[in-house]
Amino acid sequence: MGIQITPSILNADFAALGAEVARIPSADWVHVDVMDNHFVPNLTFGPTMVEALARSTDLPLDAHLMIADPDRHAPTYAEAGCGSVTFHVEAAAAPVRLAREIRAAGARASMALRPATPVEPYEDLLPELDMLLLMTVEPGFGGQKFLDLVLPKIRRARALMEKHGVETWLQVDGGVSLETIERCAEAGADVFVAGSAVYSADDPDAMVEALRAAAEA
Ligand code: DX5
Ligand code: ZN
Repeated sequence: MGIQITPSILNADFAALGAEVARIPSADWVHVDVMDNHFVPNLTFGPTMVEALARSTDLPLDAHLMIADPDRHAPTYAEAGCGSVTFHVEAAAAPVRLAREIRAAGARASMALRPATPVEPYEDLLPELDMLLLMTVEPGFGGQKFLDLVLPKIRRARALMEKHGVETWLQVDGGVSLETIERCAEAGADVFVAGSAVYSADDPDAMVEALRAAAEA
């Protein structure tokens, strides 16, 4: 599939999300951060908002669920029109069943790991996953500093994917910018979330292209 750039709208203008998404036509996906004030200490929006956003754009939505009890809620986001749905393994009771339910609901199934969660215990799940998200900050807020300590895990995850011969995409999220994206790509990531880097730029779409060029270099 190659390099993909998925801007996060977390730091965009929430009063004008449709217009904000229209500013990034070069994006491959739009990353929507769902937070519930339980799994993370921040609150954003739910399936009604996500469904409205899905109707407002031709770009596919990449939902990142930072919520408790994803077993109950994640399939709703597939039904709301998201092309990809990511749940956190730390919050999921039955990740295999949940990944299968997301796929059955018509979306790509993806699982996220917080910075301190090791990847090795989950290597046998890789064939069940269309994407693995490795958080490069503690989830909850945009604009945090990239954690270099996750880079070895990105390398190990890429090696496990090669060992298992899977097509699973490897996404990184948190502090990704022109300064850090090359390190992530070199370690083996191929899908890049960038929130503040894109929406604090004067020209967000030009930043999407600049990030893509840096990751491909
Ligand atoms: C953080 C969210 C990220 C966030 C990234 O918990 O999951 O998607 O929007 O923002 P930046 O790129 O500013 O770190
Ligand atoms: Zn995210």
